[in-house]
Amino acid sequence: MRISASLCLAALAVAAFTVNAHKSVAQHVAQTPPMGWNSWNYFAERVTDKDIRASADQIVSTGMKDAGYIYVNIDDTWEGERDGTGLLHTNSKFPDMKGLADYVHSKGLKIGIYSGPGTKTCGGFPASLGHEEQDAKMYADWGIDYLKYDLCSFIPDVMQKQSPSDEAAQMRLMIAAYTKMGNALKATGRPIVFSLCQYGWDSPWEWAPALGGNLWRTTGDITPEWDRMYAIVSQQEGLEKYAGPGHWNDPDMLEVGNGKLNLAENRTHFSMWAMLAAPLLAGNDLPNMKPEIHDILTNRDVIAIDQDQLGKQGARIYSDGEVEVWRRNLSGGALAIAVVNVGSDRVSTHPFHLDLARLGLHGPQAGRDLWTGKPITLADHQPIELASHDILLVRLDAPK
Ligand code: GLA
Repeated sequence: MRISASLCLAALAVAAFTVNAHKSVAQHVAQTPPMGWNSWNYFAERVTDKDIRASADQIVSTGMKDAGYIYVNIDDTWEGERDGTGLLHTNSKFPDMKGLADYVHSKGLKIGIYSGPGTKTCGGFPASLGHEEQDAKMYADWGIDYLKYDLCSFIPDVMQKQSPSDEAAQMRLMIAAYTKMGNALKATGRPIVFSLCQYGWDSPWEWAPALGGNLWRTTGDITPEWDRMYAIVSQQEGLEKYAGPGHWNDPDMLEVGNGKLNLAENRTHFSMWAMLAAPLLAGNDLPNMKPEIHDILTNRDVIAIDQDQLGKQGARIYSDGEVEVWRRNLSGGALAIAVVNVGSDRVSTHPFHLDLARLGLHGPQAGRDLWTGKPITLADHQPIELASHDILLVRLDAPK
């Protein structure tokens, strides 16, 4: 009797320890929005081991690492076939994943990988259905620090197949699948950032943190065009309260330096991700990065807004015609104010006049323009001249 009671107590203690260990692992990653680089937006399915190594090298040599970019994330298309034991092998583009992880770690960086809850990834490669624990363990053995888990084929494979006419039941299956991988990652004991990629279906901000999600996509995919990028910004409104240390809204990876975005648009894109406390995962061709793109991605003042310890996501306070005014509360009582000309046909022929009272501010505010690096004073009805798609981003350390 006594023996079984003490055995019970011991089992309880082990269980409590395990729960706490899981908790502390989950609590220690992504205390600020993850920063790094991901292969998809530029390389897509062409990415190879060599590109990942070259990108890691560049992150160090360009000063991006010093600016805070730490995760080097391999997106889709690294996967080969499963063997008879169910173990997933890499394909010929990634001959030695452990060697690659060691290489990235040797640079003082961390490494991320990609899978999904279905039979196949979005690119049609094997995903984790039925192999969740096995895959999580393999990631941990390789030294993986970050997993992006993409819904894709789980929709037809499981959700639509098992519950063809019950959308709520489909969503429950989806949540169960993310919970399964969340638990599998926790069971490895390795701190692994868990990134949910299911395009914002069924309000993941409400349930993802509880299953160990550190970030969750809020929308479909970004493309390197103004309209798509800013449409995503607009879809973040109202989600502010769900972001905080360890759990972030993810408006998708950065397209800074990609596609058709001009310099003003790149600046606005980067600034707004900082205002939104969004993960800063660069997605450009690092070995061929232009100096002006490097300057945007490594602007320490803007990064400091993104990485602010308080972890409060900014919000749109008002808009006036085609100009929007956003505010983000920062630690120590500081504020970031962004004024954005979102209009494609509002050119810089006449200034916009700022209404400080609507921002809760009174009288002239001394601050710093984070793109010129110069002091600026924001006064009531301050005329602000902005070209189409450009931004004024100001930090006020002592707002009144
Ligand atoms: C989905 C994701 C993208 C990328 C691709 C890879 O579209 O949303 O970010 O990971 O899959 O196939």
